[in-house]
Amino acid sequence: MPLAASGHCSKTETHMADRAADILGLGVATIDDLLTVACFPKANMKQPLLSLIRQCGGLTGSALVAASRLGAKCSYLITLGDGELSSFTRNRLTAEGINLLEDGFQTGAEPFHSLIIVDHSTGDRSIIWRNDRTLPPRIGAAELRLAAEAGCLFVDHVFAADIVGMAETARRAGRPVVGDFERDTPRSAELMDLTDHLILPLEHARRVLGKPSVPPEEAVSDLAARPGRSLACVTDSERGSWFALGKNPGEVSHQPCFSAGEVVDSTGCGDVFHGAYAAGLVLGWSPAERIRRASAAAALKTLKPGAQAGAPTLAELKTFLVDSAERF
Ligand SMILES: Nc1ncnc2c1ncn2[C@@H]1O[C@H](COP(=O)(O)OP(=O)(O)O)[C@@H](O)[C@H]1O
Ligand SMILES: [Mg+2]
Repeated sequence: MPLAASGHCSKTETHMADRAADILGLGVATIDDLLTVACFPKANMKQPLLSLIRQCGGLTGSALVAASRLGAKCSYLITLGDGELSSFTRNRLTAEGINLLEDGFQTGAEPFHSLIIVDHSTGDRSIIWRNDRTLPPRIGAAELRLAAEAGCLFVDHVFAADIVGMAETARRAGRPVVGDFERDTPRSAELMDLTDHLILPLEHARRVLGKPSVPPEEAVSDLAARPGRSLACVTDSERGSWFALGKNPGEVSHQPCFSAGEVVDSTGCGDVFHGAYAAGLVLGWSPAERIRRASAAAALKTLKPGAQAGAPTLAELKTFLVDSAERF
């Protein structure tokens, strides 16, 4: 059901005057409500809630938080509403220094919402989600201009069909596009082709290539060889990541995963990895440094629950690498 356009805020005009963003995000933000109970509910059962924690997540939302903490100037083209979940998202992202570019708000629109039931006795999770009130960013001539001016675009698969024109504009203007894709959505293949800095989890890389058991080295080499690609990277949780440059796709490097201490929660490791990579791109780090520091940032993220709380600041990342007897 289409949502009615409503109260207008003049944020777009205000932010248009700002210096162009280092990173312009276009993908999904989520709200995750973690409900911890003693055991999974059975039919007609009553039990007390042990804890309720609300956090923001989402591929692009969390990547921008990670990039902002590392010092990149981030803007986010997002459609939110006037409800509680939208306000929570707006407040959280703004508190992280992210410049929200909302072209008015849409009454009834809400971010993607997940209710995650956690069984305290086993740690098992069951997820119930809704996205029927989730709307893509609204793209017009002003937004296309922003795509041509941003340091880089950050995209994910969720709104691919709506944002593919932004990626085309950015690439035509010589701007890089960094992307995270976890599943196929309408026009995600086209958006992926426009993503010159492509970082995929191994499982999805195999799906994209139609090779269910291809080794990561071969997968990343195939992806790096695609036309227009600057860098491809494939991540595989604790097994680390592999990357190759488009100009030399046969030369694959492996980046082992860092260990920062006892893992509390690995949710969002990939999101933080992507955000740190994008920050490194606009801050001028070399390709190998982007991948190495992204791996270290993702490892630090595991020390705190949720997708975003553990994303390090630049100072924390530097200290961690120096303490790990690595260079920064
Ligand atoms: N348990 C972990 N400890 C340290 N680093 C991790 C851990 N899990 C993932 N990482 C880092 O984060 C990167 C991305 O994680 P991955 O699980 O592949 O992505 P996603 O979260 O998208 O599924 C990995 O390549 C690795 O560098
Ligand atoms: Mg991921």
